[in-house]
Amino acid sequence: MHINFVIPCLLGLERPIADELLVMEAENVQCENGRVLFEGNENMLARANICSRFAERIQVLVGTFSAHSFDELFEGTKALPWEHWVGKTDAFPVKGYSLDSELFSVSDCQSIIKKAVVERLKQTHKLPWFEETGALYQIQFSIMKNQVSLLIDTSGAGLHKRGYRPVANAAPLKETLSAALCQFARLRDFHTLYDPMCGSGTILIEGAMLANNIAPGLHRNFTAELWRQVPPGIWKEERERAKSLEKTETYFRAIGSDIDPKSLAIAKENVKRAGLEHIISFKKRDIADFSPETEKGTVIINPPYGERLLDLDAAHEIYKTMGKVLTAKRGWSYYIITADDDFEKHFGKKADKRRKLYNGMLKCQLYMYFK
Ligand SMILES: C[S@@+](CC[C@H](N)C(=O)[O-])C[C@H]1O[C@@H](n2cnc3c(N)ncnc32)[C@H](O)[C@@H]1O
Repeated sequence: MHINFVIPCLLGLERPIADELLVMEAENVQCENGRVLFEGNENMLARANICSRFAERIQVLVGTFSAHSFDELFEGTKALPWEHWVGKTDAFPVKGYSLDSELFSVSDCQSIIKKAVVERLKQTHKLPWFEETGALYQIQFSIMKNQVSLLIDTSGAGLHKRGYRPVANAAPLKETLSAALCQFARLRDFHTLYDPMCGSGTILIEGAMLANNIAPGLHRNFTAELWRQVPPGIWKEERERAKSLEKTETYFRAIGSDIDPKSLAIAKENVKRAGLEHIISFKKRDIADFSPETEKGTVIINPPYGERLLDLDAAHEIYKTMGKVLTAKRGWSYYIITADDDFEKHFGKKADKRRKLYNGMLKCQLYMYFK
């Protein structure tokens, strides 16, 4: 079956997502603001869920049309081939959002779309009502500038939920964003990764998985595993394919440190759950005492931002300390993500390159030092 897909993503992650999709052999990959479109078959549906490091979720695009009135929304929705997806007993709840559009009441749009899908399925499945006790086909709508996109979610829990981080410290960095930092740092399987403010260890774990090509979704489940369109054999095939692409016995190592012993204990638990204890090690250390144990290294840090006024001075002190210990040296590169626009001033050096990213709703920059 030929399927159109949409990936909604954190702003700034469109390009890395498009690149990983190309490696997965997806077709017609196109980047838009905050989302990536691509095409493929049932195998690609399973593959994208299991292998994508940077995507938030994988959605099937059922159709798009423009709507300025509730009538147009109803007719546009009813004209789409819902019966290809939703079976006679399946559940099909509806949720979504509307931005910059004449149809702005989300709850009205939600009930009109539901009614239209029910009407369509009554005709095609020849049933008067639907029990909705079967597999979940979560319908998601987005209405932007009067353009409606109707989607069905294939992932379930967001793809950042890899399964290794049930507990986190106070300010964990999202797994998808942590993986993207490692991608922007061009982390390879012969590198040593340092995170001297590692918190719950997300950057180290994502770095180790990226460098060794370990698929992030191998050990979790996805909604579409219960869909009849994607039989269990396809999921098994794709899990085996992903496993066969893993790199074993590389030179990659990761070293994490943090000033807070509680964070380190959580990080160690997470690393154990991810099965990466043989690659990632830890030390309790203040960043002021950062003295790497290797000749070369890639350092990626998500320091405290000092969003609350009282913390701001403390954050600036930490940036100053970082500037002293992270010195320009052959074989070393440094990547720091922060929402603080004054970072370079306190760090004491202009970045060789910067990249705008979003940590949730918070606008950040990745400051890159590699010269
Ligand atoms: C924003 S959190 C990092 C979160 C981490 N990326 C994660 O995903 O869990 C910042 C971390 O810096 C640590 N930290 C603060 N001051 C430090 C210092 N002087 N030296 C080392 N670590 C420090 C905190 O304990 C905290 O774990």
